[in-house]
Amino acid sequence: MTTQMPLDNAAAEPQAVGQSITSSALFMVATLKPGADAASKVRAWCADIAALTRSVGKRVPTGNLSCICGFGSTAWDTLFGQPRPASLHGFREFGPEGRRAMATPGDILLHIRADQMDLCFELATQLCSALGDSVSVIDEVQGFRYFDMRSIIGFVDGTENPVGRKAVDFTIVGNEDPSFSGGSYVLVQKYLHNMTAWNALSVEAQERVIGRTKLSDLELDESVKPSSSHSALTTITQDGQEVKILRDNMPFGRPGAGEFGTYFIAYARSPAPIEQMLENMFVGRPSGNYDRLLDFSSAVTGGLFFVPSADLLEALADRQP
Ligand code: HEM
Repeated sequence: MTTQMPLDNAAAEPQAVGQSITSSALFMVATLKPGADAASKVRAWCADIAALTRSVGKRVPTGNLSCICGFGSTAWDTLFGQPRPASLHGFREFGPEGRRAMATPGDILLHIRADQMDLCFELATQLCSALGDSVSVIDEVQGFRYFDMRSIIGFVDGTENPVGRKAVDFTIVGNEDPSFSGGSYVLVQKYLHNMTAWNALSVEAQERVIGRTKLSDLELDESVKPSSSHSALTTITQDGQEVKILRDNMPFGRPGAGEFGTYFIAYARSPAPIEQMLENMFVGRPSGNYDRLLDFSSAVTGGLFFVPSADLLEALADRQP
C-alpha cells in the first residue's frame, strides 16, 4: 500500500490527472499491433499528444479539454523497455466466478475529458488518425455527466474524492520512484448494471447497498451502515490514516438496447489502494462479506495503466527499448 511520501517539488509536470469535473468523457483502450514499425509509430505519437490536445482545445477555450494517456505493463516493455515504473504490472483479478474483477486486453488508455462531447470526439479522431494502423481500438465508451453528479444507479458519485493538495499527494508519484515522479497509476473497469433488479429495491435498501442516502448524499450513520456497503468496503486505512484514490466515473449506455453502465476510472499513486478496494468489494472484508452493489453490477473489462508525467510522455518518443 502507498506510503504518503513527500512529493519532490521539482518533479515533472503531471498529465491532467487533477482535471476539474467535466460534463463529457471519452475512454479508449487499444492494443498495440505486433512489429517494430507499429512500436516506433506509437513512440513518435507520444510527442504529438500534447500539441494535438492544444490544437483542438484552443478552438473552444471554455471547453476544458484534456487528455491523459497511459500504458499497460506489457506495452511498456515493448515500447520503452527499461527503466520501468516500479509498481506497473498486469491487472490483478479478484473474486469468484460469477462475481469477478476480470482482466481484459489493453496496451494504451486514453482518457479524454471536456465540457462538450464534440471536443472529446474531435481529439479522439485526431489521435487515432495519428496512430494509424499501429493499434487496434478494442473498447471505446462515451460517458456523460448525469444530473447532479449521479451515477446511472441514481446516487451522487465522487463525493468523497480527495481535493487540492491531498488529491495530488494521493495520486502523483513522488520520490518513491524518482525516474517516474509526476506520474500516476490508473485503473479502469467497465460495469454493466441490471437496472430492473436495482430499481426493484426500495430506496432504503439501495441506501444500505451504497452506505449513503440517495437524495441528499449523506453518509449513513455507522450504527445502521452495513459493513458490506460499498462505501464501507472502499474505505481503507494504512497506519491509522485513510488512503484515498481519485475517481471520475462516468455513466454511459444505450437505453434502447437495455444497456446501462458505469465506466469506473481511478487514479492513485500506486495500484495497491485500488487493488485493496477491489479485493474488499469482490472477495469481501472479511471474505464473503462482499459489496452488494456487485449483485446488480458486473465488471466486463479491467485494465491497469501507468500515466507518465507530461514531460516524460513527450520524452518517451526518443526512447529505444
Ligand atoms: C459499479 C461501479 C461503481 C459505482 C456505480 C460506484 C458508485 C459509488 C458511489 C455512488 C459512491 C458514494 C459517493 C462517493 O463518495 O463517491 C462511491 C464511493 C466510493 N467508491 Fe464507488 N462505485 C463503483 C465502483 C467502485 C470501485 C470499483 C471502486 C474501487 C476499486 C470504488 C471506490 C469508491 C471509493 C473509494 C468511494 C468513497 C468511499 C468513502 O470514502 O466513503 N467504487 N462509489
